[in-house]
Amino acid sequence: MAYTLLFLFFLLLQSLDLAAMAATLRPNFYSETCPQAESIVKDVMKKAMIREPRSIASVMRLQFHDCFVNGCDASLLLDDTPNMLGEKLALSNIDSLRSYEVVDEVKEALEKACPGVVSCADLLVMAARDAVVLSGGPYWEVKLGRLDSLTASQEDSNQIMPSPRSNATYLIDLFSRFNLSVQDLVALSGSHSIGKGRCFSIVFRLYNQSGSGLPDPAIEPAFREKLDKLCPLGGDGNVTGDLDATPEIFDNQYFKDLVNGRGFLNSDQTLFTYPLTREYVIEFSENQEKFFQAFAEGMIKMGDLQSGRPGETRRDCRVVNRHRPGVEVLFETSNEKE
Ligand code: HEM
Repeated sequence: MAYTLLFLFFLLLQSLDLAAMAATLRPNFYSETCPQAESIVKDVMKKAMIREPRSIASVMRLQFHDCFVNGCDASLLLDDTPNMLGEKLALSNIDSLRSYEVVDEVKEALEKACPGVVSCADLLVMAARDAVVLSGGPYWEVKLGRLDSLTASQEDSNQIMPSPRSNATYLIDLFSRFNLSVQDLVALSGSHSIGKGRCFSIVFRLYNQSGSGLPDPAIEPAFREKLDKLCPLGGDGNVTGDLDATPEIFDNQYFKDLVNGRGFLNSDQTLFTYPLTREYVIEFSENQEKFFQAFAEGMIKMGDLQSGRPGETRRDCRVVNRHRPGVEVLFETSNEKE
């Protein structure tokens, strides 16, 4: 009887605590509850950049891989459990996404200042903006108020996240399913202005593009020679190369590189090969301000993606609250779904 009452009480608490509808996002969401939130995120990101410049690019990428899979809900950050295969080991993420420890560090600092207030989903959105600003890119005001998911789906990530082999038509179609335009696709791909990619992601285009046994003809010959040296056939797939010629600076060099056949990924170079996306590539290569503005708009639109599923504010970005040590014993039930 006591257990039944406790369980009913818990269900009531959950229904009050876990908002099931899409949250209304707005700037300054934490101005009352955690006014230091944005400066805390920025400070930790700055320290991470000083320690390892690439790490902030790696953190910025997390927003994309989180938001496309059932909305911006930090589902990406959940570690696997015996009952749930999370997204970290999904095809596009395994051995590729990195710097989760920076996210942990940001979360720890936020929890110290304002326990239980700032969601991991909002953390990712703030950190992505800060990564861009700290690398010399544009500032934009982020909308906040997201909830963290109660679960994650490796299968959904596998189905949704695009491969580096993708061509422009595929990417246009994919992005349109998320209410993102052709301009958004090209501008957001400009995130590859910072960071690195692995040989694993480009060997097919160096040696066997579309099963031809030949390299991608869109690669400029001197650049191809450089990539061949970096990524010899049968070599170590984990060796990394720069995604553009200025991989620590957020600028429009990425688009200049595409115009010159010096895109790293197939999914990058295809944006110049294909007429519909090419006009934006050319425009952004000639006008950095236009790129910055379109990029900020795209990030805000991507940040608006929500699943409308129930959520919570996680204390630890890697685990849902009820599975944190000490909490699980009380609330675990045998027919509970992950
Ligand atoms: C348009 C479709 C996209 C595809 C196919 C794609 C694919 C990739 C691939 C294959 C890598 C290298 C991974 C590796 O080799 O391990 C990469 C890196 C990266 N991506 Fe994307 N990406 C896309 C869009 C985006 C978007 C929208 C963002 C963020 C807004 C983003 C941010 C990044 C960053 C910052 C890196 C470098 C990360 C690091 O250095 O650790 N990408 N992407």
